[in-house]
Amino acid sequence: MSAVVPLRRARARQPAPRPARLALLGTGGVGSAFVARYARLAANGVVLPAVSWICNSRTQIAGGVDLASALRDARAAAPARGGFPPWAEGESPQPGDIVVDATASETVADWHPEWLARGVHVVTANKLGTGGELGRAQAIADARAATGSRYGDSATVGAGLPLLRSLRALVDGGDRIHSIEGVLSGSLAWLFAHFDGTRPFSELVREARSAGYTEPDPRVDLSGEDVRRKLLILARAAGFALSAHEVAVESWVPAGLACVAAADVETTLATLDGALEARRAEAAAAGARLCVVGRFDADGARVGLRALPAAHPLCAGGGTDNHVAIHSDRYSAQPLVIQGPGAGAEVTAAALLDDVLAIAHVRPV
Ligand SMILES: NC(=O)c1ccc[n+]([C@@H]2O[C@H](COP(=O)([O-])OP(=O)(O)OC[C@H]3O[C@@H](n4cnc5c(N)ncnc54)[C@H](OP(=O)(O)O)[C@@H]3O)[C@@H](O)[C@H]2O)c1
Repeated sequence: MSAVVPLRRARARQPAPRPARLALLGTGGVGSAFVARYARLAANGVVLPAVSWICNSRTQIAGGVDLASALRDARAAAPARGGFPPWAEGESPQPGDIVVDATASETVADWHPEWLARGVHVVTANKLGTGGELGRAQAIADARAATGSRYGDSATVGAGLPLLRSLRALVDGGDRIHSIEGVLSGSLAWLFAHFDGTRPFSELVREARSAGYTEPDPRVDLSGEDVRRKLLILARAAGFALSAHEVAVESWVPAGLACVAAADVETTLATLDGALEARRAEAAAAGARLCVVGRFDADGARVGLRALPAAHPLCAGGGTDNHVAIHSDRYSAQPLVIQGPGAGAEVTAAALLDDVLAIAHVRPV
């Protein structure tokens, strides 16, 4: 009869699991807020994976202990030569590591399925992963199913409000989703809440942009594209394989502004003002307010600017509030309503870190 190996010795021969490392892509408003919150949480004793890389489109810098100075160096890096981001050529994250996407980049979103397939977890504020092309969203779902890698997307809709989580809980509980309707853009909510005729709309866009509420290119908000992506993320989370072209989007960006190079947006913004002021004045005369609403139901999906009575529930809240109503089998008469601040670098960074912690401590995202 062979000797029984003592449990303690048998354990001692196992290689210790390598601690997960974290790569941060994006050092703009959200990436910087992520580093600041990471430092605050670490100082409060929260155990987090080490930040091994801080990257943007120009450079990749080792994270280490002094993250604030790594962030400063990355932000100050010179423009990169060639079209390939430096992080794509360096040491790759390994299975169990976590990539945090705080960019708005198609190139980075294209990597989501690839990382997941390699066993790397992805946490993202970038909506292009599951809110862009249907093929990429499906590749992400397939890679997760094949490897068990986790995908933290709480920051993509509602900047961390418990929206996707609640929707998935309903679906997992066997509910069918009948409709999702709401104010899904915190930046547009802020813009139209402040658009009272005293200041031109373009001036408000500049203020929202410098407060970090808008997308890096504000036309992504103003064209309705950002809301389209959020609606796609929600509809797909509810189990509907909706394509981007199936969402009817009303853009109110004039052709001249839509076509200019990103560098010229600033000087062309005022072309928004005339038509929007006319719509605002007409709505105000009828006791209504302008509001950008996204809706998904059995008849399809659409995004548009609507004039709603000032007392309408979708006009409730203030600041950057999102307000979303979900009708399902169990919430058929009265919807489940979720409301709260849905834009801003700090709340978005907090949502990213919530997902990082959930993955690192193996909790559901
Ligand atoms: N602000 C909000 O309220 C909010 C809310 C929810 C979600 N989000 C999302 O958060 C993301 C970031 O927003 P932000 O306001 O922080 O944008 P931002 O200030 O413009 O920063 C974007 C960052 O992405 C980097 N980047 C671009 N292409 C890259 C690439 N190929 N590889 C690596 N890095 C790349 C940029 O690098 P360079 O500096 O080298 O150009 C920059 O550091 C966006 O997807 C946005 O939709 C924002």
